[in-house]
Amino acid sequence: MSDIKNKIEELSKQLEEHNYNYYVLSNPTISDYEFDKMLEELIRLEKEHPGYLRGDSPSQRVGGQITKEFKSVKHKYPMLSLSNTYNEGEVRDFDERIRKAGLTDQEYVCELKYDGVSISLTYVKGELVQAVTRGDGEKGDDITANVKTIKSIPLKLRGTGFPDEFEIRGEIFMPKKEFLRINEEMRKQLIEEGYDEEEIFEKQLKNPRNATSGTLKQQDSKAVAERKLDCYLYSLLGENLPHSSHYENLLEAKKWGFRISADMEKVSSVEEILKYLEKWDKKRHNLEVETDGVVIKVNSYEHQKFLGFTAKSPRWAIAYKFKAQQVSTVLNEITYQVGRTGAITPVANLKPVQLAGTTVKRASLHNADIIEKLDVRLGDTVFVEKGGEIIPKIIAVDLSKRDLFIESAGPTQYITHCPECGTALVRSEGEANHYCPNEDGCPPQVKGKIEHYVSRRAMNIDSLGGETIAQLFDAGLIRNIADLYELKKEDLLKLDRMAEKSANNLLAGIEASKQIPFERVLFAIGIRHIGETTAKKLAHSFKSIDVLMQASVETLLEVGDIGERIANTIVEFFANHEHAAIINRLRQHGLQFELSEEQMSNASDKLKDKTFVVSGVFSKFSRDEIKKMIEQNGGKNVGSISGKTSYVLAGENMGPEKLKKAEKLGVPIITEDEFIKMVE
Ligand code: IVH
Repeated sequence: MSDIKNKIEELSKQLEEHNYNYYVLSNPTISDYEFDKMLEELIRLEKEHPGYLRGDSPSQRVGGQITKEFKSVKHKYPMLSLSNTYNEGEVRDFDERIRKAGLTDQEYVCELKYDGVSISLTYVKGELVQAVTRGDGEKGDDITANVKTIKSIPLKLRGTGFPDEFEIRGEIFMPKKEFLRINEEMRKQLIEEGYDEEEIFEKQLKNPRNATSGTLKQQDSKAVAERKLDCYLYSLLGENLPHSSHYENLLEAKKWGFRISADMEKVSSVEEILKYLEKWDKKRHNLEVETDGVVIKVNSYEHQKFLGFTAKSPRWAIAYKFKAQQVSTVLNEITYQVGRTGAITPVANLKPVQLAGTTVKRASLHNADIIEKLDVRLGDTVFVEKGGEIIPKIIAVDLSKRDLFIESAGPTQYITHCPECGTALVRSEGEANHYCPNEDGCPPQVKGKIEHYVSRRAMNIDSLGGETIAQLFDAGLIRNIADLYELKKEDLLKLDRMAEKSANNLLAGIEASKQIPFERVLFAIGIRHIGETTAKKLAHSFKSIDVLMQASVETLLEVGDIGERIANTIVEFFANHEHAAIINRLRQHGLQFELSEEQMSNASDKLKDKTFVVSGVFSKFSRDEIKKMIEQNGGKNVGSISGKTSYVLAGENMGPEKLKKAEKLGVPIITEDEFIKMVE
C-alpha cells in the first residue's frame, strides 16, 4: 500500500514541477502528451485509493467539484481599494503629501494594474487552503475549488522560509489571447445554432475582466479549468514575513513558486515614477494581459504603517489610470442593419484608422437617441475610443473640424423606412430601437426565421446552412418555413454548387425533421420571446397546437412563468392568418403538433428508472392517485419490496412486516410529503 502512496506522491511532485516550469517560468521540459499521461495515471491511482487524495494534488487542477453556493468568508485583513489619479500633477501631489509627512527619502514600487478580479489566497504550512474574492472588502466568496484550477497558482509552495500561515493577494485575469479564442469559438458555435449577429454580440464575452469574473462564479470547477485563467500576485500579508518591505517580500514569494510580474520596478523619486508611467502607457498594448493603469506603493512597511489609511484606501498607495486610447477619424457613412427580429442597428462607417493595435473601420451607434445626443453628422470628424470592449465607441464629435457645409446640412435624420424592404419602421414606447414590422416579408427577417427553424436546437436540419437558405430565398424557392417541405430535387439541382448528393442530403434532412417532437416544433416556428424552456412548458400544458391556438391571454397567464408580454405575443401570433396558414401547411406535411402518446402518459421523467412500493393510507391523495402520479412521472409500481426497490412510500398503518423488510434491505422509506416534493 505504501508503494502506492509513494507513487502518488512522486507523480504529484513531478506534475507540480512541470506545471511550475510551464506556467510560471514559461519553460516546459516535457511534451503536453507526456504530461497528460502522467496526470491520467495520478487520477487513476487516486480514484482507486481515495484515502491518498490530497487537497493540494495536481489532479485538483482538472476541476470537477461542484459548489452550489459559495461560502461567505470574513477577510482577516479587509480588502481595500485604491484612490485613482489621472495625471502627472496628481502623482506629484501624492509624493508631496508623503514628503510633508516627513518621509523624504522614499522608495516606491511601481506595478502594473492588471484588470481582472482580485483574490486573497491563504497558505498554511505551505499549502493553499483558501481562496476568497474581494466581495464588499469585508467579506468575500470562498472560491477555492475554482482557484485551484488556475495552473500558475501553487497548491503547494516550493523552497523554504515562508511563514506558517500567511495571505497573498493578487489579480486573476484572462489573457487577451484566451479571451479572443473563447469568443471566436463561441461565435462559430452560435452561428451553427442559428443565432444572428445581434444575438451573437449579446452573448459573447464583453471584455476580459467580465469574462474572468463570470468564469470564477461558475459552480462547476471543470468549467473554470477549461478557460485558461492566470494570476499575478502583488501583496503579502501576515505576521512573520521574511522582510520588512514590500518589494523584497515579493521577490521572496517568487522563490516560493508564485507568479510575480517581472514588470514591477523599485524607484526612488517621483521623476522615476513618471518615467515608468510614460514607458508603460505605450508598452502596455503589447502585453498578454489588459492593464488599465499603474499602482504606486510605498515600499517600507514601517512607512506604510505610519501613513495609515483613509476610510476606503491606504495613504501609502495610489492607482494611476491610463487614458483610454482615442483617435479621431472621419464618419463616411451611416448604414443600418436589420436583424433577425427586425431590430434596426445603425453602424458608423469610418475612415480606417489604427487604434490600440487594430484597424478600426466601423463603430456601433446603437440607436436613434445616441445619434441625436452625439449630434453626429456625415463628414464629421469624430473621436473614437476603445476601452476594454471589443467594439469601439464614438464618444464625441470634434466640432472644431465641422465645416459650414456639414453645419448647414442639419442634424442626421434617422431612417423612417426599412433599408431592406421599404416598410415604415415602428418604435414602441419605451424601446430604444426601431423595428421593421414586416416580419414575414422583410428578407433578413425571413431568412433569419428559416435559419432559426433549421438550427440545431430547433429542427436540427443540419444539411441546410445559412448560405443555402440565402440561395433558395434569392431563387424565389422559399418564402417561409412551410415552403421547405415543398422543395423539389430538380429545383435544388439548378442552384450553384448543389450536386446530387447534397440535394439528397438536404431533402433527407427536411424529411427527418417531421419526427421532431412538438415542443421543439413550437420553439422552431419562432414566436417572439418564446425560448426553448417556454416552448416546452407550453407544449406540456396545452398538449397540442390546436388547444394552444384557442387559448386566451387569461388561460396563458395561468401557466407558470408566462407573463403578459409573452401571453399577448402568443395570441397575436396565432391571430395572424398567414401564420395559421403556415401551420396548417406544416401539419399537412406531417409535422408533430401534439405531444406523443408517450409524452401524454409521462408528464415528466423525474422518476425514470425508479421503482416504488406504495403502502398504507395517505392524507392528500388516494393510493391509486399516487400510483398514477408515479407512472406519469416515468416511475414504476411494484408489489413487494426487494433489494432493487428504489423507495417505499409509507402511509398511515403500513404493515410492520413491510417496514422491517425495507429497513433490513436498506430501502429508503419516504412520506407522502417527501414524495410530492419529488414530483413537483
Ligand atoms: S494593491 C490596498 N496592486 O486594483 C490596496 N492592486 O483599486 C491593495 N489591482 O482591488 C491593492 N493590480 O484588484 C494592487 N499591482 C496591483 C494591482 C491591484 C490590480 C487591483 C486590485 C484592487 C484594485 C485597487
